[in-house]
Amino acid sequence: MPQHPPEPFRIKMVEPIRLPSPAEREAALRRAHYNLFGLRSDEVFIDLLTDSGTGAMSQEQWAALMRGDESYAGARSFARFEAAVQDIFGFPYVLPTHQGRAAEKILTAILLRPGQYVPSNTHFDTTEANIRYRGGRPVNLVIDEAYDPSSTHPFKGNMDIAKLRAFIEKVGPENIPFGMLTVTNNSVGGQPVSMQNIRETGAVYREYGIPFIIDACRFAENAYFIKLREPGYADKTPLEIAREMFVYADGATMSAKKDALVNIGGFLALRDEDLYRRAAAQGVVWEGFPTYGGLAGRDLEAIAVGLYEALEPTYLAYRLGQVQYLHERLQEVGMPVLALPGGHAVYLDAKALLPHIPQAQFPAQALAVEMYRAGAVRGVEIGSVMFAHPDPDTGEMVYPALELVRLAIPRRMYTQSHMDFVAEAAREVVARRERIRGYRITYAPELLRHFMAWFEPL
Ligand code: F0G
Repeated sequence: MPQHPPEPFRIKMVEPIRLPSPAEREAALRRAHYNLFGLRSDEVFIDLLTDSGTGAMSQEQWAALMRGDESYAGARSFARFEAAVQDIFGFPYVLPTHQGRAAEKILTAILLRPGQYVPSNTHFDTTEANIRYRGGRPVNLVIDEAYDPSSTHPFKGNMDIAKLRAFIEKVGPENIPFGMLTVTNNSVGGQPVSMQNIRETGAVYREYGIPFIIDACRFAENAYFIKLREPGYADKTPLEIAREMFVYADGATMSAKKDALVNIGGFLALRDEDLYRRAAAQGVVWEGFPTYGGLAGRDLEAIAVGLYEALEPTYLAYRLGQVQYLHERLQEVGMPVLALPGGHAVYLDAKALLPHIPQAQFPAQALAVEMYRAGAVRGVEIGSVMFAHPDPDTGEMVYPALELVRLAIPRRMYTQSHMDFVAEAAREVVARRERIRGYRITYAPELLRHFMAWFEPL
């Protein structure tokens, strides 16, 4: 196998895309208040904003849509969806939701009381927001290597087990209604978590009687990293590895928009029947009856097929290889990147490229805007816009350790020449790095401000 295996598919339908002119890009930026979430997709050439819900479905998934049973209760499509989740994840109780954050919302609603803590390696922003919304406190206990952009630790997403234990001892297990682990760890670069670390995290939570929930969005990519990097797993299939990952947990939240290869969907899967009943009762109010949960029967069918396709070894080899390819090309053109690519994205290091812009002036936001200027390439800021927040005790601003721009690659969507184009845009940005300026925020909502904030160039 070459290092960047070719696409294990050929293209049967095409969606035209067009490169807007530099003048059109400037006008679009002004109209969007320099927030790339405000752009129309027609104003974007290569859209690497997210890998969430943006991938291409297979012919088998499109065929499965036609089998969709739209019965309100007890649909055949639910049975197929439930069987796939049970088979791969091993949890007996499965509640579909319209996407991942809805599963988080239900989980926090039934378990979390104000003032309580929820530890994780690193929470994703929607998980953090759901915890804060309930008056809880999200806590990130990832290993220190995660914050070192040059570290090549093979499992940089790992939980710091010593920190986790010390934290539980400090606040008391009675103040921790559940604990989490995000695989792969999106917020620190899509970095994987080792099987050993999943096992040890589970053991610590179990020791203190804390339910252990895995944020499973990118479980298949994580399984393939384990296969490639962890001793003892080279000969196991991604499916076997995935099954073992969840043996150690009590449940999972899932955004099917990632490693279930669909455009919408999610679920909450649980081992405990009582907890499931409470979740289902809450889900009826927000999502729908427990056998459709905010989705159409056809969506459930597509998820049932996609979960298995995401675990195919040739797909995963191509998938991780494509991300690796972009990572290599960006380094060739002098763009600083996190030392290791993630499973779904390459992360540009804005602090390294733009050391003259202080964190209070959003260097990663500035870099994201420049990538759009250069090639109508849309990435997403993962830095101070997303994560800076006032400390709840002191009121002082707390800035994140890293200022990143994530270039997330949609699944089965763009080709290698698209990746080459992105690298050429990056080359242009690198050439004019010294003239790039920071931003100030002119408007921002309180929660998840990065989606809707307005900016002004300084
Ligand atoms: N957990 C992780 C690790 C995620 O990356 C996401 C979404 C969610 C939960 C929430 O899932 O969007 O279906 O409600 N991440 C997307 C991203 C939005 O761009 O990384 P959702």
